[in-house]
Amino acid sequence: PMPQKRQLCLSSNSVFCFSVLVFFLFFCSGVAAGIYTTNSPEACRYVAENCSANVLVVENHKQLQKILEIQHKLPHLKAIIQYGEELKEKRPNLYSWSEFMDLGKDVPDTQLREIIESQKPNQCCTLIYTSGTTGQPKGVMLSHDNLTWTALAAGRCIMLTDATEQQELLVSYLPLSHIAAQMADIWLAVTFGVQVFFAQPDALKGTLVDTLREVRPTAFLGVPRVWEKIEEKMKSVGAKSSAFRKKVASWAKGVGLQTNLKRMNGYSEVPVNFRIARHLVYKKVRKAIGLDRCTKCYTGAAPITRETLEFFLSLNIPVFELYGMSESSGPHTASLPHAFKLTSCGKEVAGCRTLIYKPDGEGNGEICFSGRHIFMGYLNMEEKTKEAIDEEGWLHSGDLGKQDKDGFLYITGRIKELIITAGGENIPPVPIEDAVKNAIPIISNAMLVGDKAKFLAMLLTLKCNVDVGTGEPGDDLTPEAIEYCQKLGSKATKVSEIINSKDKAIYAAIQKGILAVNEGAVSNAQKVQKWVLLEKDFSLAGGELGPTMKLKRPVVAQKYKDQIAQFYMDADTPTTTENALQQ
Ligand SMILES: *[C@@H]1O[C@H](CO)[C@@H](O)[C@H](O)[C@H]1NC(C)=O
Ligand SMILES: *[C@@H]1O[C@H](CO)[C@@H](O)[C@H](O)[C@H]1NC(C)=O
Repeated sequence: PMPQKRQLCLSSNSVFCFSVLVFFLFFCSGVAAGIYTTNSPEACRYVAENCSANVLVVENHKQLQKILEIQHKLPHLKAIIQYGEELKEKRPNLYSWSEFMDLGKDVPDTQLREIIESQKPNQCCTLIYTSGTTGQPKGVMLSHDNLTWTALAAGRCIMLTDATEQQELLVSYLPLSHIAAQMADIWLAVTFGVQVFFAQPDALKGTLVDTLREVRPTAFLGVPRVWEKIEEKMKSVGAKSSAFRKKVASWAKGVGLQTNLKRMNGYSEVPVNFRIARHLVYKKVRKAIGLDRCTKCYTGAAPITRETLEFFLSLNIPVFELYGMSESSGPHTASLPHAFKLTSCGKEVAGCRTLIYKPDGEGNGEICFSGRHIFMGYLNMEEKTKEAIDEEGWLHSGDLGKQDKDGFLYITGRIKELIITAGGENIPPVPIEDAVKNAIPIISNAMLVGDKAKFLAMLLTLKCNVDVGTGEPGDDLTPEAIEYCQKLGSKATKVSEIINSKDKAIYAAIQKGILAVNEGAVSNAQKVQKWVLLEKDFSLAGGELGPTMKLKRPVVAQKYKDQIAQFYMDADTPTTTENALQQ
């Protein structure tokens, strides 16, 4: 089916269509807060109760059931509205969308205008519930001013064109309760007159590329997992092509990477072989993934690996990084076609300032922000707000990073994610996990553990097919994973087969990959000494991944606490190095 085309036309107190939406009355105008469709009834209750929601807006019968389950615990709740489907049953205070609209029939425009005009720029406009890495979600209050200022500044920064000059097109597929999607799909769209197309609900389960091909957006914000999925898909298609085509593709990729890396350093000439490659390969690739008109390919919301960035760069698709957080209304830095360094998340949006707090010898310290994009505070959490914004007005991001001499910002880790070993060494887990995923192509997810422990260990999952209906990872390996097994002489087609039989070939290959990564370790403490294969891949449905597919470490640590404990049961158990000798 055609993606729905919806004109976004919002006044400052309009209700937007979150999949589940809460808004509570604040000086007689509504403030919206989003709830993720994947939230459990209990998690829905937490948000609705915490912001004292008066009205809950749900998409369909399924979401409604969750709310009915917790309704009795929400004393402030006056009405529930279901917008996406007709009601299956009547209940007091439950309205269909048309019934709800009818309620406003007799309200004169003058009254509506008064309400709109009563809004002040410094009032809260929206609440973004953000969980951070630990603790209960906190309601980030963003004012009208924070949002309108950020939308204009960020849009100008990435050179979005106003609709009066040239129409920009976007595909919306992330939950609007997340700041990245809300900023891009609502606030930037309203500010620049962007036409927004809504992808199918199963976009992240694989239909997103179909929508991209249909819409051919001019700008696209993909979370890292989306870019990785596209990369995997392209690689598996590439693997099936003829020897000649493979040769051409690999030549073009070499040329693309080399030329683009040079461009990044300021060379502007376009060599002949690059022009040929563009004609033969890059244009076709862009077309195949629906990005042939897209001049602004962005990634954000979680770390992306250098390999993925290089893969796209080699196909002449520079993927620019955005960096920021809910507490900064979204973007704080952006990389740009004329200001781009691989693995840097760019420079500040004009008007935003950065401070590296307490830098170490190499210039690494906590990244702090200031500017008009900084939030008002957490709803009813003064203490937490004071922890986040210091006395001088700097927002502490909790991220570690440094700036180079040209002002490019590099993120090196999250303070809360740092693993501090029993020996006292601080270890950022992401680079090691990325190296493992890169060294062992059958690995889907990797999580490093070892906080306060004697050595590092790793939880690993294999690439498997996902149930399109439920989003649950299954037991069947992906075609690429099966191909990988066959190359190693294993006949396995299921995750369970590999684990139950401790498949020799696969276990040895993983071991070899880990040892190779250990070779490159910064220190002995940074070597992965043990690992285990888990039966189920991480997923949104399983709760191990967040709404933007970011790894939720505390959830994984809790879920697999037995496996983790097993690593450290016996202090003298052999390490990977010794295991290798035994194999
Ligand atoms: C919202 O949550 C915070 C933190 O748990 C708490 O301090 C506050 O009282 C809650 N507000 C309501 C209305 O539940
Ligand atoms: C964001 O908006 C609020 C309310 O207007 C304001 O208090 C806050 O200072 C804004 N951020 C900045 C840094 O201007």
